[in-house]
Amino acid sequence: MDNILKHVAIIMDGNGRWAKERNRPRFWGHVRGAYRVSDIVERASNIGIEALTLYAFSTENWTRPVDEINILFKLLKKYLKSEFARIVKNKISFKVIGDTSQLDSETLELINELEASTKTNSGLKLTFCFGYSGRSEIINAINKLLSEGHKEITEEMITQYMMRPEIGDVDLLIRTGGDQRVSNFLLWQIAYAELYFESEKWPDFSANQFEDIIRKVQKRDRRYGRIENTVLTYRESQSSSMNNLNLIN
Ligand code: FPP
Repeated sequence: MDNILKHVAIIMDGNGRWAKERNRPRFWGHVRGAYRVSDIVERASNIGIEALTLYAFSTENWTRPVDEINILFKLLKKYLKSEFARIVKNKISFKVIGDTSQLDSETLELINELEASTKTNSGLKLTFCFGYSGRSEIINAINKLLSEGHKEITEEMITQYMMRPEIGDVDLLIRTGGDQRVSNFLLWQIAYAELYFESEKWPDFSANQFEDIIRKVQKRDRRYGRIENTVLTYRESQSSSMNNLNLIN
């Protein structure tokens, strides 16, 4: 695909409502949702997206019933086991960011092993945000910089102290499930992201729908605050404007 968006992030929402509509327990929605993760990762990798970041578990999700939390933990472990070989084969570079301290030792080992064996892979940079909070990520970066004794903090410094700096800014944030919120996700990295709110709930969100959204958003005009065909930017013109003012005086 030409001119592909580099970094796509997804809030995979709507699992619980999807299950409820089918008179099933909420966890069923997560189970079905986990299959979608594999499909979307594969498609993202095939169409040449550089980075895909998925919101798998937020710090706010800790307030959910313990049974639901356990299911989400189990699904992560199952995913890691069943997709390990495919991730390696497809040259995906995998990383989990967030607070993983509550995961069991087997899951942590799987994460470490998968991260280590895919670290230098040149394909899709796949990031799972687990126990993740966008505000905490920013605060942690600032605290690290302060502890290093910096008196002044720049945007570049904070960017470098994000948990996976190489994924850079998000180009497109998709949220499934119909709500229009960013829910504490990648707050630093979405500063200039295109936002796309999809009504389909995550367990029904297909790889084709994902690709259609990418194609649609690629056609949007991303100006980053500029206007089209600006010949001379305001900053560039400062010196010449000052010269003109001198002429008026
Ligand atoms: C939001 O649905 C989704 C989550 C809290 C977790 C996302 C998890 C998965 C997609 C499955 C886990 C897969 C892996 C591989 C880690 P919700 O329960 O908030 O839905 P609702 O808004 O309808 O209640």
